[in-house]
Amino acid sequence: MIPLELIATLRTATHIAVLTGAGISAESGIPTFREAQTGLWAQYEPTELATPEAFRRNPKLVWDWYAWRRTLVANATPNPSHFALAAMETHLPSFTLITQNIDSLHQRAGSRKVIELHGNLARTKCFREGVIVETWEETGETPPRCPRCGGFLRPDVVWFNEALPAEAIKTAYDKAGGAEVFFSIGTSAVVQPAASLPIIALQNGAIVVEINPTPTPLTDRMTFVLEGKAGVVLPELLQSVWGN
Ligand code: APR
Repeated sequence: MIPLELIATLRTATHIAVLTGAGISAESGIPTFREAQTGLWAQYEPTELATPEAFRRNPKLVWDWYAWRRTLVANATPNPSHFALAAMETHLPSFTLITQNIDSLHQRAGSRKVIELHGNLARTKCFREGVIVETWEETGETPPRCPRCGGFLRPDVVWFNEALPAEAIKTAYDKAGGAEVFFSIGTSAVVQPAASLPIIALQNGAIVVEINPTPTPLTDRMTFVLEGKAGVVLPELLQSVWGN
């Protein structure tokens, strides 16, 4: 049940910002990172896989893990929560979708403006030069090598201990600070700097809404907590507020 006060607020809002995390893709069959049984990290140590040091230590292991995730994502389809956010964007003069996800599901659901804080699995770059590489010779060696410098290629995603794309995080901070309503959806709100965005919105007077089946460190500070799966709550919210 969506609170009537939230429905009324959303009907008059003009600037809405949304932060999404792995939870919004869970209903597309992509495991989240931290949930005990299914969380990806439960099977791997993050430090073994998603860091530059891990890649230097074992480039094949890291490349193969991301190749597996790329296949998982390619076989996944957007779920009702992705489509609901794409629909929400059409109702607002100013709508910003900020995601920590690297799976392109927001774009595939029709969201037009997506700020990707942690990069995107579909892009590959040279580990040494940092530039995007679109084609390379498949020799059977993994990781494949950069056609320019011969160094290893890597996924264009942000690893632990790495800086986020400067433009993306600056825009995200600006939009969080200017939003009337800020949604935190499907994120455990523990990884910085993304986890600061709802707080920045709150400190700038926004109404902040969390959508998550379980509490997070943010929950106690939220204006509204919609406890449940995004794939259920978001379509209900779109229907209650905008009738679609
Ligand atoms: N709908 C909404 N939320 C859900 C759902 C669902 N159907 N299923 C799970 N969740 C919630 C979980 O309760 C949890 O709070 O999604 C959250 C997933 O948290 P994480 O697995 O920590 O994912 P995320 O918050 O995106 O992680 C942030 O950490 O590992 C890094 O770079 C990685 O981008 C990732 C970042």
